[in-house]
Amino acid sequence: MGYSKDIPQDAPGPAVAARARLIARLQELSQDLRGGGTGLGRVLAQSLDAQGKCFRGTLMILTGDVLGTQGPVRDAVLEAAMACEMVHTASLLIDDLPSMDNADLRRGTPAFHVSHGEATTILAGIALVAEAVGIVARAPGPAVQQAGMAALLARAVGTAGLCEGQMRDLSPGKSPAGVEQEHDLKTGALFVCGFEMVALAADAGPERQAALAALGLPLGRCFQCLDDLSDALGTEASTGKSVGRDADGGGGGSPARGQLAVRSVDAAVALYHRLRADLDRSLSECGLTATAVDDYIAQVLPRGLDGIAAAGGVGAGVAPATAGRNAASV
Ligand code: IPE
Ligand code: IPE
Ligand code: MG
Ligand code: MG
Repeated sequence: MGYSKDIPQDAPGPAVAARARLIARLQELSQDLRGGGTGLGRVLAQSLDAQGKCFRGTLMILTGDVLGTQGPVRDAVLEAAMACEMVHTASLLIDDLPSMDNADLRRGTPAFHVSHGEATTILAGIALVAEAVGIVARAPGPAVQQAGMAALLARAVGTAGLCEGQMRDLSPGKSPAGVEQEHDLKTGALFVCGFEMVALAADAGPERQAALAALGLPLGRCFQCLDDLSDALGTEASTGKSVGRDADGGGGGSPARGQLAVRSVDAAVALYHRLRADLDRSLSECGLTATAVDDYIAQVLPRGLDGIAAAGGVGAGVAPATAGRNAASV
């Protein structure tokens, strides 16, 4: 199965519609950036045009819809979803740099630094994060909500989130507990932020807000575990990105990274199944079982990966590649 970032034909309708809404808004922003007359604006527009699955943003929109958001509140969720996708894209631009994972393929095209150079890529990453904060700070809604969203996004990127996680990812001395913490920071924190922003916009109330926030870490652990498996077992054709980056730590003799630095493939598959069950429990605690959110997550993170290793990996057209062909690069 070749790489596809598109939602498959048999995907649940709400997810297709949510992703289309997000992509339309991203295209509007891209046009604005292009029309702004700055060189960096044109560069950012290009980074936004090469979208991936838009898993985070699509999930946020679906969650907002399940919570019953309408009118300006629904629009605020869309802005927050776009901001999360921008931060995520920034994280990938930086993650692929030679000094990080040293990857030259991303989303089926040359990595940003390959086509634009390292300096421009670093500037684009910083600018995308800054623009994303600006977007939530101007989103429809009261000033307290705008400031709250900006604070959530800032927390997800900084020392309590992505950047700290990426720094630990680059460090030697891996342990199972340490890798889990890395994943909570580099991957889970942005999911937590996304759900919290939706809950804030929807004025969901403290209990539901806490339950939604608690969904982010199990989701991030499961998502990153599958991504780590795809790095080891997938192909460039199946993932659309460079593979084997974790095992050699991005090259240059750096230590291995990710779940497969601390366990075998079989143990990582078993872990994935445990994490997937944790995620189902969290979805149930949020009252999201059997909703469009649940259906979409199941499409990206299949409940079963049986046969993944024996069949030659996730890129070999085996069950997970079919069940999760819109999945975390599998
Ligand atoms: C890749 O994320 C980075 C990880 C956190 C594993 P995605 O798999 O969501 O990448 P895109 O956005 O679809 O390209
Ligand atoms: C990085 O993890 C995730 C980020 C938060 C940027 P990976 O290094 O595993 O992501 P991929 O595999 O390059 O997409
Ligand atoms: Mg990487
Ligand atoms: Mg990876």
